[in-house]
Amino acid sequence: MDLTTRYLGLDLKSPIIAGSSGMTNSVKKVEQLAQYGAGAVVLKSIFEEEIAFEHEDILQEASSAGVNLDQFDYYDFHLRGEKLSGYTDLIQGAKAAVSIPIIASINCVYSHEWISFAKQIQHAGADAIELNMFFLPSDFKRSVAEQERMYFEVIERLVDTVSIPVALKISSYFSNLGQMIQRLSRTGIAGVVLFNRFFSPDIDIDDFKVTSSFVLSTPGELALSLRWIAIMANKVDCNLAASTGVHDGEAVIKQLLAGATAVQVASSLYKNGPAFIGQMKETLTAWMEKHRFSNLADFRGKMSQEQTIDPAAYERVQFMKYFK
Ligand SMILES: Cc1cc2nc3c(=O)[nH]c(=O)nc-3n(C[C@H](O)[C@H](O)[C@H](O)COP(=O)(O)O)c2cc1C
Repeated sequence: MDLTTRYLGLDLKSPIIAGSSGMTNSVKKVEQLAQYGAGAVVLKSIFEEEIAFEHEDILQEASSAGVNLDQFDYYDFHLRGEKLSGYTDLIQGAKAAVSIPIIASINCVYSHEWISFAKQIQHAGADAIELNMFFLPSDFKRSVAEQERMYFEVIERLVDTVSIPVALKISSYFSNLGQMIQRLSRTGIAGVVLFNRFFSPDIDIDDFKVTSSFVLSTPGELALSLRWIAIMANKVDCNLAASTGVHDGEAVIKQLLAGATAVQVASSLYKNGPAFIGQMKETLTAWMEKHRFSNLADFRGKMSQEQTIDPAAYERVQFMKYFK
């Protein structure tokens, strides 16, 4: 059974990718994921903001201890360098340890930092870069056009700067989602990942505190990415990877049928460990045997909106029949 796929111009032995998370933050974990059959690994993102927060904490501590803060400009520079070199060590370690593609992931706040991070990541030997890019549309002074422009400005500069393939991992928080995905796909990026899932707030009703809601996804969350992979398949100029709610081999099959080139998993690895990738592959292989498919191209996109006999099904949004 041939499970190979070509994603971001890279040859993957299997379409199941370990998505960026704490399960991909060390060479040892990457080795295990490769051993159990991951087609590629997206390393845990390096967060510019995290570096900035750490710097602020240090500044605050120093200031309350009465330390002269002049030296801290240098410290900021040093901290960035240290964090980045930790990350480039991870890339180099992972590359040396496994033969599957290693995709680095960056999340930055300021556009010049994205470029500088990306250059260093390329230099460290990553096979591709995934941009974990999200600006929460909660700034009421920013128009839709301005909000969207922020994405294009960064992507266009980045694609011009690096020569390795760039994937873009986005949220579904766009006012004209289908058109936005299509426009993004025409910027020179090699793939779009639909969708990222974020830290979300909850409220503790006794302590009156904002807390964290569920960190891991549930299988029911598959529906959003499945709908949009199916709608966007054949309407974009790059690969599509599915992310969110993939908790078993059946969900991998569904995303491939919808038109995904590759499928990312994160929560299911936290729940079941890296060996679960092997199980998902077995489910996929058994299903392919049952339906007499010998490779992924035999069925990829067979259930996309363009190819299904019921394209309206993906645009159905109201539960009308339940009220009859
Ligand atoms: C604990 C945790 C940490 C994550 N860290 C990152 C990250 O650093 N960068 C990123 O792009 N996505 C991150 N994600 C998002 C996942 O890569 C994935 O897109 C999301 O969890 C949805 O997929 P899932 O349903 O398979 O979990 C993280 C998810 C979890 C649960």
